[in-house]
Amino acid sequence: MLDDKAVRAIREDFPILDQQLHGKPLVYLDNAATTQVPRCVVEEIARHYATDNANVHRSVHTLSSRSTKGLENARETVRRYIGAASTREIVFTSGTTASINLLASMWAARLRPGDVVAVSALEHHSSLVPWQQACARTGASFEVVPLDAKGDVDLAALEKLLARGNVSLLSIAHASNVLGTVSPIKEICNLCHRYGTVVSVDAAQSTRHETIDVCELDCDFVSFSGHKMCGPTGIGVLYGKAELLESLGPVMFGGEMVDKVRFGESTFEDIPIRFEPGTPNYVGAIALARAIDYLEDVGRESISVYEHFLVGEVEKGLKEIEGVRILGAPVMRAGCVSFSAEGLHPFDIASFVDKKGVAIRSGNQCAQPLLNEVYDDGSICRISPAFYNTQGEIEECLAIVDEVIGFLRRIG
Ligand code: ALA
Repeated sequence: MLDDKAVRAIREDFPILDQQLHGKPLVYLDNAATTQVPRCVVEEIARHYATDNANVHRSVHTLSSRSTKGLENARETVRRYIGAASTREIVFTSGTTASINLLASMWAARLRPGDVVAVSALEHHSSLVPWQQACARTGASFEVVPLDAKGDVDLAALEKLLARGNVSLLSIAHASNVLGTVSPIKEICNLCHRYGTVVSVDAAQSTRHETIDVCELDCDFVSFSGHKMCGPTGIGVLYGKAELLESLGPVMFGGEMVDKVRFGESTFEDIPIRFEPGTPNYVGAIALARAIDYLEDVGRESISVYEHFLVGEVEKGLKEIEGVRILGAPVMRAGCVSFSAEGLHPFDIASFVDKKGVAIRSGNQCAQPLLNEVYDDGSICRISPAFYNTQGEIEECLAIVDEVIGFLRRIG
């Protein structure tokens, strides 16, 4: 596990952390929304624009070759990071939302009335609405797999649904951005495959602290974003098994993704370029690769162990604050802990906590069905640490949350 000295050294790489907000040292604990970016990633972006910038895959000149090489090296870095079999399986997108929308639009071409698309009740809007809409367009049925009392996906209910034999695809979060539930993806993929169901995994919340080996887990599709793993915004990935990607037709058209274009018809490139029309965010991809190198330098295992420890400390501390309700008690929780305090509005809690320099999230966390229909708690607060947070910061945050809740109760 990372010790104090290692975390102090890591913090030096994140200049943003060294500042005061409202006269107090910043404590940034909203990492499930976005992570901070280390200096080396910012420098890589500046370096690329300063020395190598040109459009990719189009020209023979030197700068274009350098940019193309940077993009394709980045594809290889991503492939290695998630254990994919080939770079042909790595499609660059603008983020998790774009990845899942792209997949849902392509998958819709094979959905018919009588087919089912299932999502878990944990899903973020991005992993739910694209499938709900694809079903509405095609006449397929949209089904929700419930959670058990602790906030884990009910695998018995999932199997019952799969046994109907008409579930085309399951969309499921690897780690929930609300409850922190880490779902047993390997077990779920095995189960789904037994019934001929394809699995799309939303890995937005897990790529930083859980090891994702897509071959080991046997996932069919995996989506994630650069900005939740110390990369920049506007870059993401859709991984798909080659044979599945090959079976899909493009839904976005333009330059580069075509083979031959005539006035009457067009043919398309091989995967993954077929799904990347127009100028891709190659600088974002190059910066994402730098972020991955950085995470690997710190150590994936060390990050995972330390972040699990910090989340455990948050949970333990919140349990000691009177009147606080923690959402869920899943078998494995990672990344975040969400809570509410009876009679108090989460916006008030988060606003007063912010005045003490501490950034936590409040709101519906882009998971309205989970909060409204499962937990009857439309809005909550969430604390989500990352590997650059110290144990001292967690203690500080918990003390401030306790103080703010006490204050709001007194004035309320
Ligand atoms: N999906 C992000 C979150 O959970 C924005 O905060």
